[in-house]
Amino acid sequence: MDEASVLWLTGLSGAGKSTIARHLRACLVGRGAAVAVLDGDEIRRGLSQGLGFSDVDRRENIRRIAEMARLLSTQGIVVIVAAIAPLSRHRGLARNIIGAPYREVYVKASLSDCERRDVKGLYARARRGEVVKFTGVTDTYEPPLNPDLLVDTSTHGVHVAVSSLMALLERCQAKQTVRQLA
Ligand SMILES: Nc1ncnc2c1ncn2[C@@H]1O[C@H](COP(=O)(O)OP(=O)(O)OP(=O)(O)O)[C@@H](O)[C@H]1O
Ligand SMILES: [Mg+2]
Repeated sequence: MDEASVLWLTGLSGAGKSTIARHLRACLVGRGAAVAVLDGDEIRRGLSQGLGFSDVDRRENIRRIAEMARLLSTQGIVVIVAAIAPLSRHRGLARNIIGAPYREVYVKASLSDCERRDVKGLYARARRGEVVKFTGVTDTYEPPLNPDLLVDTSTHGVHVAVSSLMALLERCQAKQTVRQLA
């Protein structure tokens, strides 16, 4: 069976990764695709329960998500990962594990927009010093230098992101078809 694409949505907390993942899943399901969302928050409640936010634990969390994404992808399931993966070496690890189906999507929003949205109240808590190693405030986020796609949620709505992601998936599928015909 052909490997399906793995779209890894990376970006600051509150940038819109989970929101876009949900909308994209609905769009793909509507077209009859098999699709799975691996959301960082859900993974940390289950598969990665017990892991913290040290560099070692963040790396292990990414490794687990990437292995799961690879397993699903090899069974023809399109995978949407919504996980911060703050450092380029974390994303490099994911890319190495997943291989050719890996696509990096930078969900970009300014820190001030993310902080204004503060969906989970975590920025306020981080500013009060109640959350240690909070990405963007007290821990590093390295923006992707060469993502396959950048969606800017400070300037565009969620539907623009979904359309861009659908176009990316179509390009990936076209490439695969060409390879099969060659
Ligand atoms: N263009 C947009 N795309 C996505 N979300 C947007 C956009 N504009 C505003 N929002 C809002 O921003 C918030 C994004 O929250 P969301 O939980 O999706 O972020 P996240 O990147 O998954 O954060 P975390 O890493 O903490 O899980 C939501 O409240 C969403 O409605
Ligand atoms: Mg999220």
